[in-house]
Amino acid sequence: MRKSTFSLVRRSSFVLLLLLCLYRLEGHAFERNLWDDGWRFAICQDDSPQQSVFDDSAWRLLDLPHDWAIEEDFHALHPSGANGGALPGGKGWYRKHLVLQDKDASSRYALHFDGAYMNTSVYVNSQLVGTRPYGFISFSFDLTPYLNKQGDNVIAVKVDNSHQPNSRWYTGCGIYRHVYLMKSTDVRVAQWGVQAITEVKKGVGNVMLNTQIENLSGRNRRLIVRQKVWNKNHEVVAQSSKALNVVASATMVSQQMRVQKPKLWSLSSPYLYTVTTEVLENDRVIDCDTFKLGLRTVKFDVQKGFFLNGENIKINGVCLHGDLGCLGAAINEDALHRQVKMMMEMGVNAIRCSHNPPAPELLNLCDSLGVLVVDESFDSWLQGKTPYDYSLYFKSWFERDLRDMVLRDRNHPSIILWSIGNEVLEQWNKVNNSGMALEDVNILLNNTRDKSALSQGDTLNLNSKLTQALAAIVRRYDPTRMITAGCNEVSPNNNLFKSGALDVIGFNYHQKKVKDVPQNFPGKPFLMTETVSALQTRGYYKMPSDSLFRMPGKKRPFTDPTFLCSSYDNSCAYWGSTHEQTWDVVKHTPYCAGQFIWTGFDYIGEPTPFNFPARSSYFGIIDLAGFPKDCYYMYQSEWTDKPVLHLFPHWNWIEGQTIDLWCYYNQADEVELFINGKSQGVRQKRNDHEYHVAWRVTFEPGEACVVARKNGKVVGEQARKTAGTPHHIRLTPNRQVLKANGRSLSFVSVEVVDKDGNLCPWAENNIHFSLSGDAKIAGVDNGSPFSLERFQANERCAFFGKCLVVVQAGKKPSNIQLTAKGVDLAPQTINIKSE
Ligand code: GAL
Repeated sequence: MRKSTFSLVRRSSFVLLLLLCLYRLEGHAFERNLWDDGWRFAICQDDSPQQSVFDDSAWRLLDLPHDWAIEEDFHALHPSGANGGALPGGKGWYRKHLVLQDKDASSRYALHFDGAYMNTSVYVNSQLVGTRPYGFISFSFDLTPYLNKQGDNVIAVKVDNSHQPNSRWYTGCGIYRHVYLMKSTDVRVAQWGVQAITEVKKGVGNVMLNTQIENLSGRNRRLIVRQKVWNKNHEVVAQSSKALNVVASATMVSQQMRVQKPKLWSLSSPYLYTVTTEVLENDRVIDCDTFKLGLRTVKFDVQKGFFLNGENIKINGVCLHGDLGCLGAAINEDALHRQVKMMMEMGVNAIRCSHNPPAPELLNLCDSLGVLVVDESFDSWLQGKTPYDYSLYFKSWFERDLRDMVLRDRNHPSIILWSIGNEVLEQWNKVNNSGMALEDVNILLNNTRDKSALSQGDTLNLNSKLTQALAAIVRRYDPTRMITAGCNEVSPNNNLFKSGALDVIGFNYHQKKVKDVPQNFPGKPFLMTETVSALQTRGYYKMPSDSLFRMPGKKRPFTDPTFLCSSYDNSCAYWGSTHEQTWDVVKHTPYCAGQFIWTGFDYIGEPTPFNFPARSSYFGIIDLAGFPKDCYYMYQSEWTDKPVLHLFPHWNWIEGQTIDLWCYYNQADEVELFINGKSQGVRQKRNDHEYHVAWRVTFEPGEACVVARKNGKVVGEQARKTAGTPHHIRLTPNRQVLKANGRSLSFVSVEVVDKDGNLCPWAENNIHFSLSGDAKIAGVDNGSPFSLERFQANERCAFFGKCLVVVQAGKKPSNIQLTAKGVDLAPQTINIKSE
């Protein structure tokens, strides 16, 4: 009894403190409020909306995060090009009122953006507060000098994505991440101002907290900084307080704490502590800050690759861009969660945020689910890859942007490595890229260069010095992690390597050169920062499956009117490889810490090897709608303990046609294929360099069935049946209970099936959706990289038998009904609840 009262008290004081720190409760001197709701929005070319008197009453009312481009039609003439997703750019304005009744002269207000793409200018009461160019960085503006503290204020935000192209992939447009309004007093913990440096030694977790206190009051202040580490049971496991006299505008206070017998953060058990920092003056808490802390050790070893908590682990990673398919760039926690979970189920243990700092929610997810992260800053430095990209801003902004990335992210236990750039053109001495067509950028990137483009002699050139300067910035703010860069020039005379500033050698592609790494880079750990670039369309199979199709080939333009790429693992970009080829190298090379496959999910933009109407990628292991391609199961068979038996392709062909059947399997000695009961032979992987088995057979309708055996006993069976004509629709939601918070999502898979429930693999029926209850359709997709149907619609054609509808709960608890109908198909309805 006593104990439970005790723990109740303990729990409530923890929760109160957490709420205080996280949300800076209403009525306190400090507040942190999510400020997403109720913005007025319009696309507007001129700057009149910056004026407070501007009448925005006819503008649309919306909640952030928001991406205006995803709501529009694809078009060949949109200046972003197919590489940018063939969706529009433009200039968007957001406006909102801030009404204050604040008599406290010392209070301060800041507006914080997790991210807005791009060139974001904030105006308060008609005055420009500031502009931030980089569309992937988090930033804040101090509004205080511009505010009327007792009355109405007009906040206008201009997001300018009109200069196109400015990216090699789809970025989205608008305030696409969360926004916070922060209130504080004039003495506070600086933004991202607590740095945790941890070390685990002999059963003790040493936690050093370096805390930056800002004093904007212009006078001396006597303060106490009280810091606590809490475990998951809301018990304080370490704490320290320090009294200080804060004179200067900023003061650093360091406190060392010890967590006895710490629970480590690992992939299987990602234990998180909570750190709270309170600033007290005259016994009153005047500011508060909190973050999650994970105690773990990370090491890159020259011979053995990567170690987490002393355990040698292969980094089985994927690269991910930030868009969420049909939802666009607008961040949504449920959509991110679905992505990361699907990756984990495949066996992925790491994500490279390519090629920019991600939404903070992704890092939080990786912390709490146990996924490693490489956090990357830029896709270009001084030399641009597209006419209006970050290279235009690099000189003025790189120090600030790089600093802010490290400050924001450095306490995340999931982050194991910083990347200061991806395939930057400074790898070479001089690159002539003027007049380059967007679809040729990759060719430019992956051209082989002669020696004259590489570093000569022993003196370091400017590009090498720039590499050193960038690495020095990262080390200044985080001395604990190593630094890499994704390099597709793998000569040691690459200016970035030559600088000596990279701790971990990062190769993009060039798996055949991996064997030369110990000789070319003695004493350096090694990682494949980017690999594969296979090209696949879910559901499409190009035979013979043992021919390799490398595209686009060096001869341009490349055309293929199908706009399809084969889903046998027999199709890839010419600078890439098949999935099996690179995995074989990574698996059998102990000094290779691992790889990051390009890419985990398809993304909008970069439809290599095609151009418009193709407008999204073919590289994903999972398509844009979230349906796995076959190679998903190859990785699952290699990277997980789950039993895998995956036979493909489907079994609907022309009678007499020669068909290649492949099978991925594990945990079995052999597999045998039967066509309509007749054996087509037993197959087994002969050694650990083989990843699939195959049969070449003649199609006859009926059933292809594979049986797996271990020690002579059947351990698995999978059949592919010839489907009849499309008969009805099958709806499968990934969640049936949502939160009534206006953001919660259910991803509903839609399949066209025959009367017995077999997927019709060639079906292209148009499916119409309708909803009842407080909910809306957030997006539709089918995974086709060249469909020009809108993402925001209530209908979608099936693509190789499938499509997707995303249902978004409203704010009222509701019984939601989703109905799907199609011509000549029996409709289906499912129930989803929001509460
Ligand atoms: C790489 C580049 C990626 C993507 C990929 C496609 O060179 O780093 O961003 O473009 O090629 O194969």
